[in-house]
Amino acid sequence: MTFAVTSLSKVYGGTAALSSVDLEVRPGEIVGLVGTNGAGKSTLIKILSGAAKPSSGTLSFDGRSLSFAGPLDAQAAGVQTVHQNIDDGVVFGATVAENLTLDSLAGGGGAPGWFQTRARVRAAASAVAPGLGLPLDAPVETLPAGARQQIVIARALSRRARLLILDEPTSTLSAVEADALVARVKQAAATGVAVLYVSHRLSEIETLCDRVVVLRDGRVVRTFTAPPDRAAIVTAMLGPVAATEPGSAPRPPGAEVGGPAREVLVAEGVRAVPGGREFGLRVRAGEVLGVTGLVGAGKTELLEQLAGARPLLSGRLLLDGAPYRPTDPRAAIEAGVAFAAEERAAQAVVPGWSVRAHVTLPWLRAHSRAGLLAPRSETAAARRVADLFGVRGPGIEAPIEALSGGNQQKVVVGRWLEGTPRLLLLDEPFRGVDVGARADIGRVVREHAREMGVVVASCDPQELIGLADRVLVLHEGGPAGELPVAETTAERLAALMSGTGEGVPA
Ligand SMILES: Nc1ncnc2c1ncn2[C@@H]1O[C@H](COP(=O)(O)OP(=O)(O)OP(=O)(O)O)[C@@H](O)[C@H]1O
Ligand SMILES: [Mg+2]
Repeated sequence: MTFAVTSLSKVYGGTAALSSVDLEVRPGEIVGLVGTNGAGKSTLIKILSGAAKPSSGTLSFDGRSLSFAGPLDAQAAGVQTVHQNIDDGVVFGATVAENLTLDSLAGGGGAPGWFQTRARVRAAASAVAPGLGLPLDAPVETLPAGARQQIVIARALSRRARLLILDEPTSTLSAVEADALVARVKQAAATGVAVLYVSHRLSEIETLCDRVVVLRDGRVVRTFTAPPDRAAIVTAMLGPVAATEPGSAPRPPGAEVGGPAREVLVAEGVRAVPGGREFGLRVRAGEVLGVTGLVGAGKTELLEQLAGARPLLSGRLLLDGAPYRPTDPRAAIEAGVAFAAEERAAQAVVPGWSVRAHVTLPWLRAHSRAGLLAPRSETAAARRVADLFGVRGPGIEAPIEALSGGNQQKVVVGRWLEGTPRLLLLDEPFRGVDVGARADIGRVVREHAREMGVVVASCDPQELIGLADRVLVLHEGGPAGELPVAETTAERLAALMSGTGEGVPA
């Protein structure tokens, strides 16, 4: 059952998102689809999954042409998709159990009894990861993004698929959880499922894919067969001019500049989650503290407490030596604490609003003159952010949803560097951002860190090694260790994350 697209094109307004794309995925084959932010990956996937219509070109299964009226049509034809925006795949207001069993509930045959539902949930959950360990009765919106992503993936894997499509499935998962997913995808392929897999994590692409297709500016520029050469993939993605292998961001001396820098943040006796072990934190100006841990380890909960987005569980905070106890995010911003939250779709993106408005939203006062917004100052700010991070797409006046996922992420992270916070908190800033832009974000954050303290949470220890001075590892809500990056490796951090490594007590 070979799945093929031929001469596929998609035009949005004046932008060609895809131009004459040819692609085949054969049964049992895992095809990697890579490309920089805005290359056209999600557009291709939306067309394959019936969520968007092509401007021209055809889809076919074994030579028989297909046309999908909508997503349900594609599912009926055996195309199962996990979209990049995971919240397209969960129903808010319903429980975890209900979300995992949506298909059987929607399938008619009378309302299943509670016990039946629970049994099915267990089957669906253990199909993707034995002991998924999610609270079945919790409303799905109370779960962190990583847990919601696991639900969406579990559901896609439990359905019978001929073509399984995964768009950035691991962007909210830590390395350990991602490895489990990779194993599951391999199993599915071994049973004859054709797989199309999008990821910015090239190590995953390397271990998983039989073939790798590189998209650039909406065109297929190269195809690699396994084992693909990572450097050659990066070159093909970025194009001949921009292709310098993005290594870790150069690390300016930070705290060493001009003697011992002031302590921006001191936290004493804080907890990441209720019942977690207490610990302390210190961040100086010019310093970047990384925080890592598995999904559920408490990274987001910790940052949200520092940002006034949830009440401090215990202990006390000092900001530049003065007591700091924000009651809400507005109070935190006023105290000089900026927080780029983890969940772009739910917390940062306002559909219909322009890119410009998203950049200036937190800084309205700075862009106002006598209570009125000053459009020129707003436009200048939006241009700066777009240039600094290489935001590509239809321009700063376009609605934000016309940008690719990674470009939206650059906007909502970059806008926090427009102000001059004392403490900058970034939760998963690299989610869905391509290798080139990761290096850009890292560089800009390091440059800004000369005047401020920065705390970056990421489930990927490798990302923190390129950016942070020290890394705090959380395990089940408590500190598993805090290590200077100069003295650690991604493997050592991963061991601490899973609760097996030895660290320096935090
Ligand atoms: N609804 C839309 N309206 C206008 N332009 C759009 C729309 N959706 C996508 N585009 C444009 O199409 C191009 C391809 O976007 P797409 O989302 O497919 O990129 P991608 O490869 O998935 O990138 P990322 O890695 O950032 O997710 C981009 O230039 C984007 O701005
Ligand atoms: Mg995308």
